[in-house]
Amino acid sequence: MKISVQHGSIESVEADTIIVGYFERVSAPGGSAAAIDQALGGAVADVIAAGDASGELGHTTILYPRGVIPAARVVLVGLGPANVFDEEAVRVAAASAARRARELGAAQVASVVHGAGIGGLDVGAAAQATVEGTRLGLYRYDDDAGLTAFTLVERDEDKIVAVEDGTRWGEAVAEGVQLARDLIRRPANVATPEHLAEIARSLAKDHGFAVTVGDRAWAEEQGMGAFLAVAQAAGHEPRFIVLEHDPSRGREAPIVLVGKGVTFDSGGLSIKGRQGLEGMKEDMAGAAAVLGTMRAIGRLRSPRRVVALVPATENVIDALGFRPSDVVEAANGTTIEIISTDAEGRLLLADALVHASQYSPRVVVDVATLTGAIETALGKLASGLFTNDDALAAGLQAAADRTRERVWRMPLWEEYRADLSSDVADTKNSSGVAKGGACVAAAFLERFTDYPWAHLDIAGVRSAEKTDGYRVKGPTGFGVRLLVDWITRS
Ligand code: BES
Ligand code: MN
Ligand code: ZN
Repeated sequence: MKISVQHGSIESVEADTIIVGYFERVSAPGGSAAAIDQALGGAVADVIAAGDASGELGHTTILYPRGVIPAARVVLVGLGPANVFDEEAVRVAAASAARRARELGAAQVASVVHGAGIGGLDVGAAAQATVEGTRLGLYRYDDDAGLTAFTLVERDEDKIVAVEDGTRWGEAVAEGVQLARDLIRRPANVATPEHLAEIARSLAKDHGFAVTVGDRAWAEEQGMGAFLAVAQAAGHEPRFIVLEHDPSRGREAPIVLVGKGVTFDSGGLSIKGRQGLEGMKEDMAGAAAVLGTMRAIGRLRSPRRVVALVPATENVIDALGFRPSDVVEAANGTTIEIISTDAEGRLLLADALVHASQYSPRVVVDVATLTGAIETALGKLASGLFTNDDALAAGLQAAADRTRERVWRMPLWEEYRADLSSDVADTKNSSGVAKGGACVAAAFLERFTDYPWAHLDIAGVRSAEKTDGYRVKGPTGFGVRLLVDWITRS
């Protein structure tokens, strides 16, 4: 889909379908809806008066101008009540309008920038939200069929530069999310560790990143005994991916992102049940979010130095695999007694967090589908945020408010660590008790950090059960929008 910006009025634009928004509980249409109303001799006011267009957020009504204006159809999309209108409403409205247009067979679509006029939003942010909502709402795996052109039309010449800027941001962010969603959706026999490495290499080529891909032997040299324990049974070879964007040429302390890249989590010998196995190709959603974020910041040419670390392996079963009771040693010398081979994410993250320290990072954020317990705690509405740094918490919280990729702060009390005390090693990898599991996992990770650090447990939010606004059924790509917003304001 080609996205462009045009100066002009929506009612006179050449497109097969045009999209305009209007607020709930208004007696008369305002803004661009009023312009369309006038051009169509009061047709918009009529459908509102008839009660056929409620203005409910995302509700769509179609009008047929019959040659009065160039467009063959008008999609009127509800923006919800004016008093709670924000960028999230723009994303939701843009997504449902675009989907409705596609269902109707539209190919050339033009839309106003929702919120840039009477909505009173920042124009750039409104354009970004319109583009993000449109692209994410239209998302289908490996399928760009249907809508071929999407034009944002802005009447006010003074706003064009801001609309163009916001459009560029929206496109970059949406492409990052799309990469994440595509990777998560791919089955584990396709999205192998080497496949993730290939993606990293192609991102490096496209954006001038430095890339290093470590194999088993490399990880052995690094002393990554925890990562290698998980990889011990793997048929598809493990990869430890390092991708770096450094416009500062080494002068800036980097932001390090770590993504859990378990390409399939069977649980290992602590095998999951039949139900538990479902969706475990998605256990690399953290890695996908980190790679998607790199794609977006590469496209945006962010001035920040950002390093992405992705420990990637499958967690499967083999005679030579690791087993409960094994003791393994992480890269910092910490010994770990394996209680459950299904608590594998924290093992590979431990070695990645130790590795992150080499960069003298300004801050490290890991993203991981780490525990089922976080979904029990927060449902599918927010990721768990665990951090040892209040300023970092505030920064991520602000980004979450803007992007509506919600985070909810959870405790990192050291008492959780007591559950992991071992008779034979420095720590166990699991308490074996099903209480506060997300907090215990985070407390385990904290042992391996010596810098400002945040951990996002995204197990609950990694996928959506049904299409709702710009979140289409399936992988959400959670983390990309949040991290890009946070990094670019850091
Ligand atoms: N990948 C899972 C967590 C998960 C569960 C993600 C459900 C998405 C949906 C993780 O590796 C895991 O198995 N965690 C265990 C930890 C337990 C063994 C301490 C869990 O949550 O049950
Ligand atoms: Mn597991
Ligand atoms: Zn896992």
